[in-house]
Amino acid sequence: MSALTDRFGRVHDYLRISVTDRCNLRCLYCMPEEGVQFEPAENLLTYDQITEVVRAGASLGISKLRITGGEPLVRPGLADLVRQLSAIPGIKDISLTTNGVLLADQAAALREAGVNRVNISLDTLDPARFKFIARRGDLKRVLQGIEAAAKVGFAPIKLNCVLLKGVNEDEIADFLRMAYEQPLHVRFIEYMPIGHADDNWRNHYLPLTRVLEIAQENGLQVAPIHDVQGNGPSDDYRIEGGKGSFGLIHPISDQFCKRCNRLRLTADGHIHPCLYWVDELNVKPALGDPAKMVELFGRAMDLKPQNHEMAAKLANEALSHEPTSRRMSQIGG
Ligand code: GTP
Ligand code: 5AD
Ligand code: SF4
Repeated sequence: MSALTDRFGRVHDYLRISVTDRCNLRCLYCMPEEGVQFEPAENLLTYDQITEVVRAGASLGISKLRITGGEPLVRPGLADLVRQLSAIPGIKDISLTTNGVLLADQAAALREAGVNRVNISLDTLDPARFKFIARRGDLKRVLQGIEAAAKVGFAPIKLNCVLLKGVNEDEIADFLRMAYEQPLHVRFIEYMPIGHADDNWRNHYLPLTRVLEIAQENGLQVAPIHDVQGNGPSDDYRIEGGKGSFGLIHPISDQFCKRCNRLRLTADGHIHPCLYWVDELNVKPALGDPAKMVELFGRAMDLKPQNHEMAAKLANEALSHEPTSRRMSQIGG
Protein backbone atom coordinates (compact mmCIF):
# COMPACT_ATOMS: atom_id res chain seq x y z
CA MET A 1 0.00 0.00 0.00
CA SER A 2 1.31 3.48 -0.89
CA ALA A 3 2.32 5.67 2.07
CA LEU A 4 -0.08 8.32 0.75
CA THR A 5 -3.28 6.29 0.93
CA ASP A 6 -6.10 8.09 2.71
CA ARG A 7 -8.89 6.74 4.93
CA PHE A 8 -10.98 6.01 1.85
CA GLY A 9 -8.31 4.02 -0.02
CA ARG A 10 -7.35 6.79 -2.44
CA VAL A 11 -3.68 6.85 -3.43
CA HIS A 12 -2.08 10.30 -3.76
CA ASP A 13 0.68 10.77 -6.34
CA TYR A 14 -0.09 14.32 -7.56
CA LEU A 15 0.92 17.56 -5.82
CA ARG A 16 -0.29 20.98 -7.01
CA ILE A 17 2.16 23.66 -5.93
CA SER A 18 0.98 27.26 -5.78
CA VAL A 19 4.03 29.53 -6.04
CA THR A 20 2.22 32.86 -5.59
CA ASP A 21 -1.22 34.21 -4.69
CA ARG A 22 -0.67 37.20 -7.00
CA CYS A 23 -2.03 37.51 -10.49
CA ASN A 24 -1.89 39.90 -13.41
CA LEU A 25 -5.61 39.30 -14.16
CA ARG A 26 -8.77 39.54 -12.04
CA CYS A 27 -11.04 36.84 -13.49
CA LEU A 28 -14.50 37.37 -12.12
CA TYR A 29 -14.85 33.74 -10.99
CA CYS A 30 -11.62 33.96 -9.03
CA MET A 31 -10.70 37.37 -7.63
CA PRO A 32 -12.51 40.64 -6.91
CA GLU A 33 -11.66 43.51 -9.22
CA GLU A 34 -9.80 45.39 -6.48
CA GLY A 35 -7.66 42.29 -5.76
CA VAL A 36 -7.23 40.75 -2.32
CA GLN A 37 -4.78 41.17 0.54
CA PHE A 38 -1.73 39.50 -1.01
CA GLU A 39 0.80 37.63 1.09
CA PRO A 40 3.93 39.67 1.78
CA ALA A 41 6.91 38.15 -0.06
CA GLU A 42 8.52 37.03 3.21
CA ASN A 43 5.55 34.74 3.95
CA LEU A 44 5.97 32.75 0.74
CA LEU A 45 7.93 29.52 0.76
CA THR A 46 11.26 30.05 -0.99
CA TYR A 47 12.11 27.81 -3.94
CA ASP A 48 14.48 25.85 -1.68
CA GLN A 49 11.71 25.35 0.88
CA ILE A 50 9.25 24.20 -1.79
CA THR A 51 11.91 21.76 -3.00
CA GLU A 52 12.28 20.46 0.55
CA VAL A 53 8.53 19.83 0.86
CA VAL A 54 8.44 18.08 -2.52
CA ARG A 55 11.41 15.90 -1.57
CA ALA A 56 9.43 14.59 1.42
CA GLY A 57 6.34 14.08 -0.78
CA ALA A 58 8.37 12.26 -3.43
CA SER A 59 9.77 9.88 -0.79
CA LEU A 60 6.14 8.92 -0.10
CA GLY A 61 5.02 8.43 -3.69
CA ILE A 62 4.33 11.89 -5.14
CA SER A 63 5.55 11.65 -8.75
CA LYS A 64 3.52 14.32 -10.58
CA LEU A 65 3.70 18.03 -9.92
CA ARG A 66 1.70 20.96 -11.22
CA ILE A 67 2.84 24.53 -10.71
CA THR A 68 -0.06 26.93 -10.13
CA GLY A 69 -0.75 30.39 -8.70
CA GLY A 70 -2.40 32.96 -8.63
CA GLU A 71 -0.51 33.27 -11.84
CA PRO A 72 2.75 31.32 -11.49
CA LEU A 73 4.58 33.22 -14.24
CA VAL A 74 4.51 36.46 -12.22
CA ARG A 75 6.93 34.94 -9.69
CA PRO A 76 10.48 35.69 -10.88
CA GLY A 77 12.84 32.84 -11.75
CA LEU A 78 10.22 30.10 -12.02
CA ALA A 79 12.43 28.07 -14.37
CA ASP A 80 14.96 27.77 -11.51
CA LEU A 81 12.33 26.12 -9.32
CA VAL A 82 11.36 23.74 -12.12
CA ARG A 83 15.00 22.76 -12.57
CA GLN A 84 15.30 22.00 -8.84
CA LEU A 85 12.08 20.00 -8.79
CA SER A 86 12.93 17.94 -11.86
CA ALA A 87 16.16 16.81 -10.18
CA ILE A 88 14.26 15.21 -7.26
CA PRO A 89 14.32 11.39 -7.48
CA GLY A 90 10.82 10.04 -8.18
CA ILE A 91 9.45 13.17 -9.90
CA LYS A 92 8.31 12.07 -13.35
CA ASP A 93 5.97 14.76 -14.60
CA ILE A 94 5.98 18.54 -14.10
CA SER A 95 3.21 20.61 -15.60
CA LEU A 96 2.00 24.18 -15.30
CA THR A 97 -1.36 25.98 -15.18
CA THR A 98 -1.15 29.57 -16.39
CA ASN A 99 -3.36 32.35 -17.70
CA GLY A 100 -1.00 32.56 -20.67
CA VAL A 101 -0.37 36.32 -20.55
CA LEU A 102 3.39 35.96 -19.89
CA LEU A 103 3.81 32.58 -21.57
CA ALA A 104 5.20 33.74 -24.90
CA ASP A 105 8.19 35.22 -23.04
CA GLN A 106 8.82 32.22 -20.81
CA ALA A 107 7.72 29.12 -22.75
CA ALA A 108 11.16 28.19 -24.08
CA ALA A 109 12.93 28.60 -20.72
CA LEU A 110 10.25 26.59 -18.89
CA ARG A 111 10.34 23.79 -21.43
CA GLU A 112 14.11 23.66 -21.22
CA ALA A 113 13.94 23.60 -17.40
CA GLY A 114 11.69 20.53 -17.39
CA VAL A 115 8.02 21.50 -17.70
CA ASN A 116 6.30 18.81 -19.83
CA ARG A 117 2.83 20.24 -20.29
CA VAL A 118 0.91 23.49 -19.91
CA ASN A 119 -2.77 24.14 -19.26
CA ILE A 120 -3.83 27.63 -20.27
CA SER A 121 -6.98 29.43 -19.11
CA LEU A 122 -9.11 30.66 -22.00
CA ASP A 123 -12.72 31.51 -21.22
CA THR A 124 -13.62 33.45 -24.34
CA LEU A 125 -12.48 33.99 -27.91
CA ASP A 126 -13.87 37.53 -27.95
CA PRO A 127 -11.45 40.38 -27.03
CA ALA A 128 -14.15 42.61 -25.49
CA ARG A 129 -15.55 39.75 -23.45
CA PHE A 130 -12.05 38.90 -22.30
CA LYS A 131 -11.86 42.39 -20.79
CA PHE A 132 -15.18 41.73 -19.05
CA ILE A 133 -14.17 38.35 -17.59
CA ALA A 134 -10.46 38.91 -16.85
CA ARG A 135 -10.83 42.66 -16.19
CA ARG A 136 -7.17 43.18 -17.08
CA GLY A 137 -4.79 42.00 -19.75
CA ASP A 138 -5.34 41.28 -23.37
CA LEU A 139 -6.68 38.23 -25.22
CA LYS A 140 -4.01 38.72 -27.89
CA ARG A 141 -1.22 38.04 -25.40
CA VAL A 142 -2.91 34.81 -24.31
CA LEU A 143 -3.30 33.64 -27.92
CA GLN A 144 0.39 34.44 -28.49
CA GLY A 145 1.16 32.39 -25.37
CA ILE A 146 -0.77 29.41 -26.76
CA GLU A 147 1.10 29.71 -30.05
CA ALA A 148 4.46 29.92 -28.28
CA ALA A 149 3.59 26.86 -26.19
CA ALA A 150 2.96 24.85 -29.35
CA LYS A 151 6.13 26.16 -30.97
CA VAL A 152 8.41 25.04 -28.13
CA GLY A 153 6.82 21.58 -28.13
CA PHE A 154 4.47 21.42 -25.15
CA ALA A 155 1.93 18.66 -25.83
CA PRO A 156 -0.88 18.22 -25.30
CA ILE A 157 -1.83 21.88 -24.88
CA LYS A 158 -4.98 22.12 -22.80
CA LEU A 159 -7.22 25.16 -22.67
CA ASN A 160 -9.27 25.66 -19.48
CA CYS A 161 -12.63 27.30 -20.11
CA VAL A 162 -14.73 28.00 -17.01
CA LEU A 163 -18.34 28.14 -18.18
CA LEU A 164 -20.42 30.96 -16.78
CA LYS A 165 -24.16 31.10 -17.36
CA GLY A 166 -25.12 34.29 -19.15
CA VAL A 167 -21.49 35.21 -19.85
CA ASN A 168 -19.76 32.73 -22.17
CA GLU A 169 -22.21 29.83 -22.60
CA ASP A 170 -22.91 31.07 -26.13
CA GLU A 171 -19.28 30.24 -27.03
CA ILE A 172 -19.47 26.50 -26.33
CA ALA A 173 -19.97 25.76 -30.04
CA ASP A 174 -17.02 28.03 -30.97
CA PHE A 175 -14.75 26.27 -28.48
CA LEU A 176 -15.86 22.87 -29.81
CA ARG A 177 -15.10 24.09 -33.34
CA MET A 178 -11.66 25.16 -32.13
CA ALA A 179 -11.06 21.64 -30.76
CA TYR A 180 -12.22 20.21 -34.09
CA GLU A 181 -9.99 22.41 -36.23
CA GLN A 182 -6.83 22.64 -34.11
CA PRO A 183 -4.71 20.09 -32.24
CA LEU A 184 -5.77 21.47 -28.86
CA HIS A 185 -7.55 19.88 -25.91
CA VAL A 186 -10.34 22.22 -24.73
CA ARG A 187 -11.63 21.61 -21.21
CA PHE A 188 -14.94 22.99 -20.06
CA ILE A 189 -15.03 23.54 -16.31
CA GLU A 190 -17.93 24.04 -13.93
CA TYR A 191 -17.77 27.23 -11.91
CA MET A 192 -16.94 26.39 -8.29
CA PRO A 193 -17.91 28.41 -5.19
CA ILE A 194 -14.41 28.88 -3.80
CA GLY A 195 -13.99 31.96 -1.66
CA HIS A 196 -16.43 34.47 -3.09
CA ALA A 197 -20.04 35.63 -3.06
CA ASP A 198 -22.37 32.68 -3.21
CA ASP A 199 -25.07 34.60 -5.06
CA ASN A 200 -22.76 35.42 -7.92
CA TRP A 201 -21.83 31.75 -8.12
CA ARG A 202 -25.44 30.49 -8.04
CA ASN A 203 -26.41 32.98 -10.74
CA HIS A 204 -23.60 31.97 -13.08
CA TYR A 205 -23.16 28.25 -12.35
CA LEU A 206 -23.80 26.11 -15.45
CA PRO A 207 -23.81 22.30 -15.38
CA LEU A 208 -21.72 20.85 -18.20
CA THR A 209 -24.48 18.64 -19.58
CA ARG A 210 -25.08 21.44 -22.12
CA VAL A 211 -21.72 20.78 -23.81
CA LEU A 212 -22.63 17.32 -25.11
CA GLU A 213 -26.05 18.60 -26.20
CA ILE A 214 -24.43 21.44 -28.15
CA ALA A 215 -21.95 19.04 -29.78
CA GLN A 216 -24.91 16.98 -30.96
CA GLU A 217 -26.88 20.03 -32.12
CA ASN A 218 -23.84 21.02 -34.21
CA GLY A 219 -23.59 17.61 -35.86
CA LEU A 220 -20.36 16.64 -34.10
CA GLN A 221 -19.90 12.95 -33.36
CA VAL A 222 -18.11 12.56 -30.05
CA ALA A 223 -16.84 9.54 -28.12
CA PRO A 224 -15.10 9.10 -24.74
CA ILE A 225 -11.32 8.64 -24.80
CA HIS A 226 -8.88 7.69 -22.06
CA ASP A 227 -5.52 8.45 -23.61
CA VAL A 228 -5.17 12.21 -23.05
CA GLN A 229 -2.09 12.69 -20.92
CA GLY A 230 -3.09 14.19 -17.57
CA ASN A 231 -3.45 13.65 -13.85
CA GLY A 232 -6.62 15.58 -13.18
CA PRO A 233 -10.35 15.05 -13.04
CA SER A 234 -11.30 15.62 -16.69
CA ASP A 235 -13.56 13.24 -18.66
CA ASP A 236 -12.24 13.41 -22.22
CA TYR A 237 -13.83 13.06 -25.65
CA ARG A 238 -12.62 12.94 -29.22
CA ILE A 239 -14.52 14.55 -32.06
CA GLU A 240 -14.90 12.32 -35.10
CA GLY A 241 -12.64 13.66 -37.88
CA GLY A 242 -11.25 16.49 -35.71
CA LYS A 243 -7.65 17.41 -34.95
CA GLY A 244 -8.14 18.08 -31.24
CA SER A 245 -10.32 16.85 -28.40
CA PHE A 246 -12.22 18.18 -25.41
CA GLY A 247 -12.77 17.41 -21.75
CA LEU A 248 -15.37 18.02 -19.09
CA ILE A 249 -14.49 18.91 -15.48
CA HIS A 250 -17.74 18.68 -13.54
CA PRO A 251 -17.12 18.76 -9.78
CA ILE A 252 -20.72 19.73 -9.01
CA SER A 253 -23.07 18.03 -11.47
CA ASP A 254 -21.10 14.76 -11.40
CA GLN A 255 -18.66 14.62 -8.51
CA PHE A 256 -15.26 13.00 -9.10
CA CYS A 257 -13.93 12.90 -5.51
CA LYS A 258 -13.85 9.07 -5.56
CA ARG A 259 -10.87 9.24 -7.90
CA CYS A 260 -9.05 12.07 -6.12
CA ASN A 261 -5.27 11.59 -6.27
CA ARG A 262 -4.04 15.05 -5.26
CA LEU A 263 -2.77 17.30 -2.52
CA ARG A 264 -2.05 21.00 -2.70
CA LEU A 265 0.73 23.15 -1.32
CA THR A 266 -0.21 26.81 -0.91
CA ALA A 267 2.27 29.60 -1.60
CA ASP A 268 2.29 30.54 2.11
CA GLY A 269 3.24 26.99 3.06
CA HIS A 270 0.15 24.94 3.87
CA ILE A 271 -0.70 21.45 2.71
CA HIS A 272 -4.32 21.72 1.66
CA PRO A 273 -5.89 18.23 1.45
CA CYS A 274 -9.19 19.11 -0.27
CA LEU A 275 -9.85 22.09 -2.53
CA TYR A 276 -13.11 23.01 -0.81
CA TRP A 277 -12.49 22.27 2.86
CA VAL A 278 -11.03 24.53 5.53
CA ASP A 279 -8.50 22.03 6.94
CA GLU A 280 -4.82 22.52 6.18
CA LEU A 281 -1.40 21.93 7.70
CA ASN A 282 1.39 24.46 8.09
CA VAL A 283 4.67 23.07 6.72
CA LYS A 284 6.86 25.84 8.14
CA PRO A 285 7.44 24.22 11.57
CA ALA A 286 8.63 21.07 9.75
CA LEU A 287 11.20 22.80 7.53
CA GLY A 288 14.68 21.45 8.18
CA ASP A 289 13.26 18.24 9.67
CA PRO A 290 12.54 15.65 6.94
CA ALA A 291 10.93 13.16 9.37
CA LYS A 292 8.49 15.82 10.58
CA MET A 293 7.69 16.79 6.98
CA VAL A 294 6.92 13.16 6.12
CA GLU A 295 4.67 12.99 9.18
CA LEU A 296 2.76 16.07 7.96
CA PHE A 297 1.96 14.35 4.68
CA GLY A 298 0.61 11.42 6.70
CA ARG A 299 -1.59 13.77 8.72
CA ALA A 300 -2.90 15.26 5.49
CA MET A 301 -4.16 11.77 4.60
CA ASP A 302 -6.05 11.60 7.91
CA LEU A 303 -7.58 15.04 7.37
CA LYS A 304 -8.76 14.47 3.84
CA PRO A 305 -12.56 14.30 3.62
CA GLN A 306 -14.38 11.74 1.50
CA ASN A 307 -15.85 14.39 -0.76
CA HIS A 308 -16.69 18.05 -1.07
CA GLU A 309 -20.27 19.33 -0.72
CA MET A 310 -20.54 21.95 -3.45
CA ALA A 311 -23.79 20.40 -4.71
CA ALA A 312 -25.33 20.79 -1.24
CA LYS A 313 -24.13 24.38 -1.23
CA LEU A 314 -25.80 24.93 -4.61
CA ALA A 315 -29.06 23.59 -3.17
CA ASN A 316 -28.69 25.86 -0.12
CA GLU A 317 -28.50 22.84 2.19
CA ALA A 318 -26.49 22.72 5.41
CA LEU A 319 -22.90 21.45 5.00
CA SER A 320 -21.33 18.88 7.30
CA HIS A 321 -18.00 20.70 7.30
CA GLU A 322 -16.73 24.25 6.97
CA PRO A 323 -15.56 25.29 3.48
CA THR A 324 -12.24 27.04 2.96
CA SER A 325 -12.09 30.79 3.41
CA ARG A 326 -9.28 30.95 0.85
CA ARG A 327 -9.94 32.24 -2.63
CA MET A 328 -9.14 30.14 -5.67
CA SER A 329 -6.08 32.31 -6.32
CA GLN A 330 -4.80 31.46 -2.82
CA ILE A 331 -5.06 27.70 -3.45
CA GLY A 332 -4.25 27.33 -7.13
CA GLY A 333 -7.35 25.47 -8.33
P1 GTP B 1 -4.13 17.63 -15.95
O1 GTP B 1 -2.91 17.03 -15.32
O2 GTP B 1 -3.82 18.17 -17.30
O3 GTP B 1 -5.29 16.71 -15.93
O4 GTP B 1 -4.48 18.95 -15.08
P2 GTP B 1 -5.60 19.33 -14.03
O5 GTP B 1 -6.92 19.28 -14.66
O6 GTP B 1 -5.37 18.53 -12.79
O7 GTP B 1 -5.16 20.85 -13.67
P3 GTP B 1 -5.72 22.31 -13.96
O8 GTP B 1 -4.91 23.21 -13.09
O9 GTP B 1 -5.73 22.60 -15.40
O10 GTP B 1 -7.19 22.29 -13.39
C1 GTP B 1 -8.35 22.29 -14.18
C2 GTP B 1 -9.58 22.54 -13.33
O11 GTP B 1 -9.81 21.41 -12.50
C3 GTP B 1 -9.45 23.76 -12.40
O12 GTP B 1 -10.68 24.45 -12.42
C4 GTP B 1 -9.25 23.13 -11.05
O13 GTP B 1 -9.73 23.94 -10.01
C5 GTP B 1 -10.06 21.85 -11.19
N1 GTP B 1 -9.60 20.84 -10.25
C6 GTP B 1 -8.38 20.27 -10.21
N2 GTP B 1 -8.34 19.38 -9.19
C7 GTP B 1 -9.54 19.44 -8.56
C8 GTP B 1 -10.11 18.78 -7.44
O14 GTP B 1 -9.47 17.99 -6.77
N3 GTP B 1 -11.37 19.08 -7.11
C9 GTP B 1 -12.09 19.97 -7.81
N4 GTP B 1 -13.33 20.19 -7.39
N5 GTP B 1 -11.61 20.62 -8.88
C10 GTP B 1 -10.35 20.36 -9.24
N1 5AD C 1 -14.28 27.55 -10.64
C1 5AD C 1 -13.71 26.72 -11.55
N2 5AD C 1 -12.47 26.89 -12.03
C2 5AD C 1 -11.78 27.95 -11.61
N3 5AD C 1 -10.55 28.38 -11.91
C3 5AD C 1 -10.29 29.50 -11.17
N4 5AD C 1 -11.35 29.79 -10.40
C4 5AD C 1 -12.31 28.86 -10.66
C5 5AD C 1 -13.61 28.62 -10.16
N5 5AD C 1 -14.19 29.42 -9.26
C6 5AD C 1 -9.67 27.71 -12.87
C7 5AD C 1 -8.88 28.67 -13.72
C8 5AD C 1 -7.60 27.91 -14.02
C9 5AD C 1 -7.61 26.78 -13.02
C10 5AD C 1 -6.40 26.71 -12.17
O1 5AD C 1 -8.72 26.96 -12.19
O2 5AD C 1 -9.55 28.97 -14.90
O3 5AD C 1 -7.60 27.40 -15.32
FE1 SF4 D 1 -5.62 35.06 -12.10
FE2 SF4 D 1 -6.07 32.54 -12.61
FE3 SF4 D 1 -7.51 33.77 -10.80
FE4 SF4 D 1 -7.78 34.47 -13.39
S1 SF4 D 1 -8.23 32.42 -12.47
S2 SF4 D 1 -7.60 35.89 -11.64
S3 SF4 D 1 -5.82 34.16 -14.17
S4 SF4 D 1 -5.38 33.32 -10.63
